[in-house]
Amino acid sequence: MLSSKMFSAICLPVALVVSACGSSEAPRIADYVIVSETQTGPAVSASLMETALVATAGDVLYLSVLGMTAEGVGVPPPSGLKVNWSGAPLAVVGDPDAKIPSAGADPAAMFVDNPARFVDLGADAVLGIVAPGTRDRELRLTATISGVEGDPQEISGVLDVSGMPSGNAETGRDVFSKNCGSCHASTGSGTAGASSVDAEALAADRRWSPALFAIGVRVGMDPACAPLEGAMPIWLNKTTANGFPLSTQDFADMYAFLESTRAVVAESNQRKR
Ligand code: HEC
Repeated sequence: MLSSKMFSAICLPVALVVSACGSSEAPRIADYVIVSETQTGPAVSASLMETALVATAGDVLYLSVLGMTAEGVGVPPPSGLKVNWSGAPLAVVGDPDAKIPSAGADPAAMFVDNPARFVDLGADAVLGIVAPGTRDRELRLTATISGVEGDPQEISGVLDVSGMPSGNAETGRDVFSKNCGSCHASTGSGTAGASSVDAEALAADRRWSPALFAIGVRVGMDPACAPLEGAMPIWLNKTTANGFPLSTQDFADMYAFLESTRAVVAESNQRKR
């Protein structure tokens, strides 16, 4: 259920004190915590570990529930555990009635669901952060746990949301041409891609905010919740040349590049008239 990357990162520091990690006897779970993971590494809810859940707009978080022993050691939750998440609306890829939350005064976020497209993520839920909001910038997420001994339990975590990092068009040009140019014909390269969606077309589509671009490209969903299909890769967990999936910073940079492309295209159209 949990990715090995996340689990070892949590186990390692505490395993030096108590060697419960990996012991064959199932440890007693005293509490559950919400764990979130992004490309930049894991963060654990503040309730037992002293790291807050943090995110920026454009992030896609993998949320999981982790068991904690009385000694404060993170262990995988027992099998049979069911988790229901609340705190943000659910957008189902391919559901025409689904709506992407608008960037209002509160942090805007959505759980994204389409099991057919999310395999091997090792997460209970996938959360996309649309906008940081203007007020308290805190999003309360609740996991209702059932299917294990005792009453259904509720645990909550507060996510500190900040704005999307600003992008660098030069860096973005590089990231885009390396990862997307083969199909989306990076402007100036002259390569005609297999897709009819070239860099200019992407740049011209105003429905994509930087954050929606970062979320949609990763989960394979356009701003109307329609699935991106065909040859378009699912970028969420796709490892790139640097050994990591594309980060929110990468998307900010690519968006800045597409914006600069749009300016160039608009200018050359002007000259043609
Ligand atoms: C192997 C080919 C391929 C690669 C590589 C690729 N794409 Fe795509 N992309 C496609 C295809 C095909 C579509 C059309 C999907 C559809 O219409 O369902 C698409 C659609 C899209 C769309 C939606 C366009 C719209 O307005 O509906 C965006 C945005 C996008 N790609 C961004 C990217 C970015 C950013 C990268 C690089 C990180 C990338 N793509 C890499 C093939 C590719």
